[in-house]
Amino acid sequence: MKIIAIVNNKGGVGKTTTSRILAEYFSIVKNERVLAIDMDPQANFSNRYLKMEIDPYQQEGRIPPIHTNYNPESPEDSDWDGRSSIAGIFFGEMVFPYSTYINTLEVAPSHSSKLLLAEAVTREEVVQKVYDQLSKFLELDDVKNSYDKIIIDTPPSKGPVTISVVRAATDLLIPSIMEPQPIEGIYGMIHLWKSETLRRPENRPLNLIGVLPNSFDRRGIIHKDHYDSLKQEMPDYVLDSRIGRRLIYAEADADGAVPPSIFMYPEKNPARQEVVSACQEIEERMNAYVN
Ligand SMILES: Nc1ncnc2c1ncn2[C@@H]1O[C@H](COP(=O)(O)OP(=O)(O)O)[C@@H](O)[C@H]1O
Ligand SMILES: [Mg+2]
Repeated sequence: MKIIAIVNNKGGVGKTTTSRILAEYFSIVKNERVLAIDMDPQANFSNRYLKMEIDPYQQEGRIPPIHTNYNPESPEDSDWDGRSSIAGIFFGEMVFPYSTYINTLEVAPSHSSKLLLAEAVTREEVVQKVYDQLSKFLELDDVKNSYDKIIIDTPPSKGPVTISVVRAATDLLIPSIMEPQPIEGIYGMIHLWKSETLRRPENRPLNLIGVLPNSFDRRGIIHKDHYDSLKQEMPDYVLDSRIGRRLIYAEADADGAVPPSIFMYPEKNPARQEVVSACQEIEERMNAYVN
């Protein structure tokens, strides 16, 4: 089971877009069993697959809808309120993934106020606990036997929640726009990868898939210049594929978009083709690495 973490502590660089693309590629195109995990309190990734509701504790926050398997009359369901989020791992709650419109894709959604609480812990013993919770969840037999790929979207931070994701991951992918601010985020993430690599046992290495350039402007020279110098600096860790800046990606992000996935566009669609080749390169880089 590959656990792919999509990280960059800068916001708006394409983490959620890339998470969607990978989750939909592996489930729709490759017919693999995928679990999408949304660790970002903003809940954008969850919102693409579920009708998230307003968080009563946080005006702009979101909580998962009532689970379809929940039956308030059943004694078996007396110990929970019918809503299950990935944030439950930090509070000793069970996590029940939700099904989506894609047969082989399930989602463990965000919960804004709970994830913010986990992110805000400061007492050393508690911080250490947060770091380990996601690994513990993903090591459960039930989880390991149910999925081929786990795709994890993260918040734009280097806090405890992001660290728990990096600890649990087998592979890291860093989407970034080829501009100075987001590129700074790349260096931060590479630092995080290196320090995590140092603390891993030899039999559990963490593969850095690399940097995926997003919102790439092929006409101007700015993005190309930054891309070329980054590639020169770290040739092994900059992907050849680039995702262009296209309205279609933003449109596909809207509620009720038709078709709902880029992989449901005609095969000749240039955005779909570009995304398929990026996914293939990511897959090759993952498979070349044994973990
Ligand atoms: N390649 C792209 N072309 C056009 N718009 C994009 C592209 N990638 C992302 N976007 C849009 O930019 C915004 C930020 O992207 P998002 O994936 O949410 O970034 P992050 O998760 O890193 O904050 C979203 O509105 C998204 O639809
Ligand atoms: Mg996001």
